[in-house]
Amino acid sequence: MSVVLKSVYKAFEEIDGKPKYVLNDIRLHIHDGEFVCILGKSGCGKSTLLNLLAGYLKTDAGRISVNGQEIDGPSAQRGVVFQQHALFPWYTVMENIEFGPKLAKRKDSKKIAQELVSLVGLNGYENKYPGSLSGGMAQRVGIARALANDPEVLLMDEPLGALDAMIRQNMRREIIKIWEKTNKTVIFITHSIPEAVYLADRVVLLKEGRVEEDVKIDISRPRDVKSPEFLEYVDFFEKGLSDQEGESLITE
Ligand SMILES: Nc1ncnc2c1ncn2[C@@H]1O[C@H](COP(=O)(O)OP(=O)(O)O)[C@@H](O)[C@H]1O
Ligand SMILES: [Mg+2]
Repeated sequence: MSVVLKSVYKAFEEIDGKPKYVLNDIRLHIHDGEFVCILGKSGCGKSTLLNLLAGYLKTDAGRISVNGQEIDGPSAQRGVVFQQHALFPWYTVMENIEFGPKLAKRKDSKKIAQELVSLVGLNGYENKYPGSLSGGMAQRVGIARALANDPEVLLMDEPLGALDAMIRQNMRREIIKIWEKTNKTVIFITHSIPEAVYLADRVVLLKEGRVEEDVKIDISRPRDVKSPEFLEYVDFFEKGLSDQEGESLITE
């Protein structure tokens, strides 16, 4: 499903009687099945944008629509994965994934959950509790749980942010596999340039609440993070993000 943002504004506070916009005239058109990364430094408004898309926050001005229909609060149509997984500690892996379909009174909830366990590579972990899982495994459960409601759009807010570098790279590959198998529209937030260039069809660079760049990543998959074309994109975004002091982003 396509996601369209038309001149979206969001402020949390006023300064001298004027709203201080965290998001300022955001215009985006995300196509059905597209993998879009929203890239930007800490504090530039990424999570605010994701929360608007999820329906947890409302825009001050502008409109967000999914397949032509304006969003009005959270919906099973949009699945969300956060950096800190929000799994139920008292439920097993299987029960966590099954939660949404069960709530929706799906008779095939077990089957749905079992398929997702395989899809995200959690076979053998079905009966484990979240507390006994590594960070990477817990994020797989989080992704499976978001997919269990069969959302049209998957919204991910720095889901790999808390993971070690090695596991992160592995999870990036997994996320691409999952996306290729499910054909979901994915909006993925990150502050890592290589992560965005590795994952995305298109990278939207946010700077101080505005769309600074909107760039198609023209590299076939699987992508080689050491190839010259890959490094060229990384370089481009590093230049786009560095401030006057030349300070750049973490590039793991
Ligand atoms: N609920 C809120 N109330 C007030 N200010 C907020 C709120 N949420 C975010 N902000 C501010 O909005 C800006 C953008 O935050 P956020 O969207 O979380 O950035 P990012 O995810 O890119 O790090 C920050 O300056 C942050 O302090
Ligand atoms: Mg954030």
